[in-house]
Amino acid sequence: MAPPSLSRENSFSFPNFPGISFLRNYPRGYPNIRSRYLCVSTACIILYLLCTLTNFFFFDQLIFNLQLQHDSDAPRRVTLYSFSAFHSPEAFESDYKKMEKELKVFVYPDGDPETYFHTPRKLTGKYSSEGYFFKNIKESSFFTADPLQAHLFFIPISCHKMRGKGLTYERMIYEVGKYVESLKFKYPYWNRTLGADHFFVTCHDIGAKATNGVPYLVKNSIRVVCSSSYDGLFIPHKDVTLPQVQLPFFHPAGGNDIKNRKILAFWAGRSDSKLKDELAAMWDNDTELDIQNNRIDLHATGPIVYVEKLYRSKFCLCPHGPVGSSRIADSIHYACVPVIMSNYYDLPFNDILDWRKFSVIVKESELYQLKDILRNISEKDFVTLNQNLVKVQKHFKWNTPPVRLDAFHMVMYDLWLRRHLTRY
Ligand SMILES: *[C@@H]1O[C@H](CO)[C@@H](O)[C@H](O)[C@H]1NC(C)=O
Ligand SMILES: *[C@@H]1O[C@H](CO)[C@@H](O)[C@H](O)[C@H]1NC(C)=O
Ligand SMILES: *[C@@H]1O[C@H](CO)[C@@H](O)[C@H](O)[C@H]1NC(C)=O
Repeated sequence: MAPPSLSRENSFSFPNFPGISFLRNYPRGYPNIRSRYLCVSTACIILYLLCTLTNFFFFDQLIFNLQLQHDSDAPRRVTLYSFSAFHSPEAFESDYKKMEKELKVFVYPDGDPETYFHTPRKLTGKYSSEGYFFKNIKESSFFTADPLQAHLFFIPISCHKMRGKGLTYERMIYEVGKYVESLKFKYPYWNRTLGADHFFVTCHDIGAKATNGVPYLVKNSIRVVCSSSYDGLFIPHKDVTLPQVQLPFFHPAGGNDIKNRKILAFWAGRSDSKLKDELAAMWDNDTELDIQNNRIDLHATGPIVYVEKLYRSKFCLCPHGPVGSSRIADSIHYACVPVIMSNYYDLPFNDILDWRKFSVIVKESELYQLKDILRNISEKDFVTLNQNLVKVQKHFKWNTPPVRLDAFHMVMYDLWLRRHLTRY
């Protein structure tokens, strides 16, 4: 919903405030009355200042005390009682409908397949979101073959094949640069905006690294990337986080199974960061937190054991690591409330969904209070988090062809929000 425009009637003016308007309108040549009004105004101002000061000294302490009381009563992570996980459901709904009607994207032709560019075909594995996006965009109503209609231009760079052929980074960067140069040369669209209305999508960390080597590309166009811990290049108002997911899932989505969720929190995995080392060192052998440093061997026991835990835990820990991970997507799918442990992380659809309503976000240093923090979340709040999580599952799901409000459409909506970026 567009904000109501400020009409003249709505804008601030004080036509009826006597001290000001009368003074302003009073004809010159009546100096006594004029100065009397000046006196009254001055008195008012002094009185006002006195009141403010009194307020400041006597009531601030009271309010401070009340706040303290309030803080210790309530769980620390508030706003759990809303019905919707959207920041602003009404605004989202009307703007989303507008996007469905209007948004058009021009897709540049693939580069020469012999020089390593082509649309990824795989819809499985760790980088499935990338594969789905490439497929979905052409299946969707956003696709246009007419660049004159387009709001945005999609540069279909996928580095899968380059990786497969064992190219060095230098060579990959050269290939990406050459391809973008060719688009700049053949079409007039890049030069119009220096690429501000262009975007590319890469889930593969190799792809992110290869595109990073072409500075004008990452600076100007919109990067839609999987791992969005702040790597120095992710610019939150310009770029978009693609939710990373490992497909297929082995079991159906979790949901109304709260009574089976007996484990307070679960994490198992290979440690590849200091945070994960500390997590394991701190909570290994704990009776309530099920923390297993590399103990579930996916090859030995199969993924079933891991998945079972996701069905049986209330919270699933998602500690930050150096590479992108599908752990958050797993937690959402199996309806295990994700506990995001990261100091900086630009969560997918952050500007559309309020993550505090379906996840718990902690600082890395809160690792040591983890058990207290999770225990402090009341059963009622946990149920609310869990129910909201079930409601957002569809926004993280990829489909072919894409369906309304699914992961593809959420990414498109994030792009739609960025269509007005400053054109340089
Ligand atoms: C766009 O600008 C570049 C120089 O930056 C130039 O080489 C290229 O020919 C221009 N493209 C078009 C289509 O005019
Ligand atoms: C957990 O138990 C194992 C074996 O009993 C022991 O070697 C390890 O030091 C324990 N870890 C912690 C953090 O107490
Ligand atoms: C948990 O709650 C208790 C009291 O309800 C409070 O003293 C404690 O500081 C809280 N701990 C955390 C980590 O929030």
